[in-house]
Amino acid sequence: MPTTVAAPKKAPAAEQDFLPLEGTDYIEFYVGNAKQAAHFYKSVFGFQSLAYSGPETGVRDRASYAIRQNKLTFVLTTAIKIDNPIADHVYKHGDGVKAIALRVKDATSAWKETTKRGGKSYLEPKTLTDDHGKVVMSGIHTYGETVHLFIEREDYTGPFMPGFEKWEPAFETTSTGLQYVDHCVGNVGWNQMNPWVKFYEDVMGFRNILSFDDKDISTEYSALMSKVMSNGNGFVKFPINEPAEGKKKSQVEEYLDFYNGEGVQHVAIATKDIVETVEELQRRGLEFLNIPSTYYDELPSRVGHIDEDLEPLKRLGILVDRDDEGYLLQIFTKPVEDRPTLFFEIIQRKGAKSFGKGNFKALFEALEKEQERRGNL
Ligand code: FE2
Repeated sequence: MPTTVAAPKKAPAAEQDFLPLEGTDYIEFYVGNAKQAAHFYKSVFGFQSLAYSGPETGVRDRASYAIRQNKLTFVLTTAIKIDNPIADHVYKHGDGVKAIALRVKDATSAWKETTKRGGKSYLEPKTLTDDHGKVVMSGIHTYGETVHLFIEREDYTGPFMPGFEKWEPAFETTSTGLQYVDHCVGNVGWNQMNPWVKFYEDVMGFRNILSFDDKDISTEYSALMSKVMSNGNGFVKFPINEPAEGKKKSQVEEYLDFYNGEGVQHVAIATKDIVETVEELQRRGLEFLNIPSTYYDELPSRVGHIDEDLEPLKRLGILVDRDDEGYLLQIFTKPVEDRPTLFFEIIQRKGAKSFGKGNFKALFEALEKEQERRGNL
């Protein structure tokens, strides 16, 4: 069945977007060992060193490494002392996403507008300054222990933000072609999808552009429901998943069990050439879900003409789906930590604005195989 994505909201002239977002500024992960995690993302994903914050820069309780590839910035943060919220977060959730930081023109207004509409404050507007200028940041809580930070950095020329120093280690790798965050998916508890949809509508002015029910997304076992939330200009998209009843345990339930609650399930990263990017990522040791080769037998009749040769797609395990506006190519990694929690998606859009509904069956069957091997199905 063709998928149509709802058009971005056309606000009447009088109705201003109360939370204008310019995209994802960075994603911060709380991890057990930030030094090693930064090395992993550099070696395998192709990030470059950007900035460092820790005891050497006057920060006593943590160490953070900011790394960058094109418009994609990750921050890996670890606690270096006990009795610290970062250490507690890692103890409870394992390595995972703590903050999805969003770029704004006015972080004070973003905080005022969202908290006025019911958002729970995480960080009151705070101005950070150094020799390179100023950054204003604020934040609100979202699902689980995850937060959204609002980052205003127009008057800042330093490498990352005050508190950080330029990080220039001897070791660097080359880019794998990863460009920016396409979307960021949250897993929430039973019957919690609609309350979180309402949160994104009411508190952040987002709109539901796509919905999947358990009939769209269920294999024999592993069912889930999902709604995709988008901000007004479509730069920021947050699909929200909740588990659904199936024959056995839902993949979202497995996540909730091991993450000890709600959190980010996957971050989808855009590339301009998925074959080249995935070839390089696999060469560097990143593990992807195995897709049965029979998937490619039906592909030409399902999606029609595509520019890419079928052979490399099949060899690398890249999936293809079409909607009314074009097609997309996507692939999913295995979890990047020992807990079956956070993973990544690599996506190349060729017109399509949807999320690969036609691939859900093949994908979830591949996922279930992994879940079964872990004894969690
Ligand atoms: Fe995705």
